[in-house]
Amino acid sequence: MIYHIIKSILFKFDPELTQKIVIKQLSIISGTSLQKIFKFKLVSRPVKCMGITFKNSLGLAAGLDKNAECIDLFGAMGFGFIEVGTVTPVAQIGNIQPRLFRLVESEGIINRMGLNNLGVDNLVNNVKKSNFKGIIGINIGKNATTPIEKSKDDYLICMEKVYSYADYIAINISSPNTPFLRMLQYGEALDDLLASIKIKQKELEKFTLKYVPIAIKISPDLSETEIIKIADSLIRYRIDGVIATNTTTTRSLVRRLKHCEEIGGLSGRPLQSISTLVIKSLAKELKGRIPIIGVGGIDSLIAAREKIAIGTSLIQIYSGLIYKGPQLIKDIVNYI
Ligand SMILES: Cc1cc2nc3c(=O)[nH]c(=O)nc-3n(C[C@H](O)[C@H](O)[C@H](O)COP(=O)(O)O)c2cc1C
Repeated sequence: MIYHIIKSILFKFDPELTQKIVIKQLSIISGTSLQKIFKFKLVSRPVKCMGITFKNSLGLAAGLDKNAECIDLFGAMGFGFIEVGTVTPVAQIGNIQPRLFRLVESEGIINRMGLNNLGVDNLVNNVKKSNFKGIIGINIGKNATTPIEKSKDDYLICMEKVYSYADYIAINISSPNTPFLRMLQYGEALDDLLASIKIKQKELEKFTLKYVPIAIKISPDLSETEIIKIADSLIRYRIDGVIATNTTTTRSLVRRLKHCEEIGGLSGRPLQSISTLVIKSLAKELKGRIPIIGVGGIDSLIAAREKIAIGTSLIQIYSGLIYKGPQLIKDIVNYI
């Protein structure tokens, strides 16, 4: 009820400005005794995945806490894990504004932010300051100015910097707003990237005496054949997890709605069935050999249960939190 009122005020303003102000305010509260305001009584439901124990199966998806400024506060809200980032080696401003749009009727969001972030060193400093006792995933990507043939270097730079501070590392090769990024999901480019990441993981494991699982985040805009090929590569390179999915460039479910023509990735309820189909195909192919983290349009307990029922071990939310507020966390964690 309270969130409903807050939302009706916040939704009167520009989406990016609102998000910026809210994240700023939350970052001020984060880690202080004031974060108690957001604390819910939650049932403990530990889940083991990728060799680590999660307090519960619900996580915050990448992109909301891009610079890891509010980890403690999102932790206090009850998330079992928080994925910060996407972060790139060097800070970048992203695409020109406006680049964030609400499709209110369908409870969707279109964004073409372009991985705006303050760089990996800043993120690591923030992660170091956090007192969150849950799992922290760090999502890494490439700078827009790095040529696609050299993108591997960016992932390896970020891996090296975040390895000691992450419980798992997510590799973002599926944002639709960084030119050519999604090409890394195919054929030799994917195999080459996965091979290098595995070598780096082994090297860093030896050095730090800590095994940090790697999860690859994929797009929902893949054909059945492409999913089969990706699954095969993930198995061959012994990748620890797969996050499905990022936002979609398709608009089939939002035709004629305000802002539907905006370029970018669509998330929220219109993505729900699309991501579910991709996860189903992926689960059929992986046969439980690699855990799936399901994300895309989870905006209710029913939607969360559906993602779990089709074979995901963990789930994440982003747009659902914007439309439904922190109560959604409680509903999912307590009753899933
Ligand atoms: C504004 C916005 C920014 C996002 N930024 C990132 C990002 O930086 N990295 C990433 O991997 N995913 C990013 N995502 C995708 C989400 O993590 C998630 O995969 C997607 O939104 C689907 O989940 P949802 O329907 O619950 O929002 C972003 C999504 C939104 C709406």
